[in-house]
Amino acid sequence: MIDISLTVNGGRHELSVSPETTLLGLLRNQLGLTGAKLGCDVGDCGACTVIIDGRSVNACLMLAAQADGCSVLTIEGLATREQLHPIQQAFEVHASLQCGFCGPGIILSAKALLDGNPDPSRQDVREGLSGNLCRCTGYAKMIEAVLQAACVMRGETEDVDGKSKAGS
Ligand code: FES
Ligand code: FES
Repeated sequence: MIDISLTVNGGRHELSVSPETTLLGLLRNQLGLTGAKLGCDVGDCGACTVIIDGRSVNACLMLAAQADGCSVLTIEGLATREQLHPIQQAFEVHASLQCGFCGPGIILSAKALLDGNPDPSRQDVREGLSGNLCRCTGYAKMIEAVLQAACVMRGETEDVDGKSKAGS
C-alpha cells in the first residue's frame, strides 16, 4: 500500500492506496464520490473527468498515487450549498442533458475551459468538450449552455436564460 495525501473538493484526505488503484477508483470506492462515472475505463469517453490543479483529467487513466499532493475537484464540489454553479444552471435551463451519465464530466471539462478561457468562441467550446462523449444528445444544447454560462461568469448577463444585466 502507498500512503498519499490529497485535497478533494477542499477537504484534506490521508489515504492508503494500492499501487494499481486509479484516481477514479479512489474517488468512487474509498471516498464515496460517485459523480465521476466509470464509462470506458480506457480514456475514450470522458465520463470520469475531474479537475486536478486546474486541469481536466480522465480519472480512469491516472493512478491514485499520482494524485499525491494534488487538489482535486469533482462534480460534488462544484455547487455551493445554496446555489448551483452557473454552468450547472445553464445546463438545466437549456435542457442540455438527457440520461445525464456524461454530465459531470462534460460540466467539469466546461469549467476547466472557462477557467482558462473566459470568452471562448463556439469552436473553442466544441474543442473544449471534444474529449467527452454523449450518447444521447447532439451536443448543441450543451454548447449553448457553456456559451451562456461564460456570459454569466463574465458578468455580462444576470441569468443563464440570457436576460440582459441592463434590463429589458
Ligand atoms: S471512463 Fe475514463 S475516459 Fe471513459
Ligand atoms: S445525456 Fe446521456 S450520455 Fe449524455
